[in-house]
Amino acid sequence: MKMGNLVYFARRYLPLVAVVGGLAGAFVYAAGGFGSGRVTTQQFVDLQQGNKVHEGFRRAHAKGFCIAGEFVSDGALEPYTTALVFSKRTTPFTGRFSIAGNDPTAPDLKAPVRSLALSIAVDPQNVWRTAMNTPPVMAVRNPEDFYQQLSALAPDQETGKRDPKKIQQFFAAHPESRAFTRWASEYRASDSLATETYHSINAFYLKDSAGQRRAVRWEARPGKTEEEDHGVTTGEGSNVLHDEFFRRLASGPVTFDLVFTLAEEEDDESDPTQPWPAARQQLVAGKVVITDASPQVNGSCNAINFDPLVLPPGMAATDDRILRARSAAYAESYRRRAFEHWKIETLKFNGEESADE
Ligand code: HEM
Repeated sequence: MKMGNLVYFARRYLPLVAVVGGLAGAFVYAAGGFGSGRVTTQQFVDLQQGNKVHEGFRRAHAKGFCIAGEFVSDGALEPYTTALVFSKRTTPFTGRFSIAGNDPTAPDLKAPVRSLALSIAVDPQNVWRTAMNTPPVMAVRNPEDFYQQLSALAPDQETGKRDPKKIQQFFAAHPESRAFTRWASEYRASDSLATETYHSINAFYLKDSAGQRRAVRWEARPGKTEEEDHGVTTGEGSNVLHDEFFRRLASGPVTFDLVFTLAEEEDDESDPTQPWPAARQQLVAGKVVITDASPQVNGSCNAINFDPLVLPPGMAATDDRILRARSAAYAESYRRRAFEHWKIETLKFNGEESADE
């Protein structure tokens, strides 16, 4: 690397490197497998990115855009957690809407899953990151089975088509997927990212000042449901959800309630396939108020790894093994795209056309 490049790299990417440094734990994990040694983080991310790598983009949920606004906490969680973000205060956030898949140009309406990610920082020691999806549960309860699920769903390399028999066999062999498949058969995608509900799926602990912990899941519930919402104009083209959201935001903030469900003793917080009974106590922790949206390329959310294990004091991970696998895979995906960004920027800086020159 030329000296000029080194200086340029340091200036441009030190913030990214700092974030990665903060995730050292995730990298240690990424170096190994997911516990049984059967699937490594690299294999996982290789499978997710597929044959055609979209350089500089996330290896999953590649298509998306950045958002920003405020989280207005009303203090309802204060008895359960010392996390400052849940005291009565307003904290700015950076976030991202996305759709599942590895193609940053995919048509918005083809994706089976939509997502909302938030990074809420009271200060550098008190950061909470969450990446939420539309399904309330997962189909499987461990990383190895998730790898098998992704393999069963992957299109055939020659035909480019999925094999329905393979998919059927996978779900038949995994009865724990029933809550997920029931949800999938009843789910009707809405016409707007603003009127979906997004779930944490995995459970976490809230920790109070006496060190007592309580398992919770959370969801972002739209301020307006689709029935209440009369402003949606669907539009056309492969970016309809993106376009609709930007149009909507031009006439005022989009809000979500952050609703926490408290587990009882008999609920298994390590199993993301099982919904908890509907009667469980729920608390509205506050409002997510989205005021800005911008493209992801060079956007404020691009250098953020929405690692679910970035938790502030007052919150902790459960033993759900999917959480560790996620953390490691997000770090590996981040490492790949950060390197590609550096490569692309360095070529531009040197006025070079291609890496081979
Ligand atoms: C073993 C299970 C999982 C694996 C291996 C996995 C892997 C990944 C990877 C590699 C990325 C790209 C990360 C980046 O470059 O920043 C990603 C993004 C994402 N994942 Fe997962 N994921 C898993 C489970 C889940 C679950 C259960 C949820 C929902 C609760 C979820 C929600 C998301 C979201 C919302 C994003 C996009 C975040 C953003 O906007 O940057 N994932 N996932």
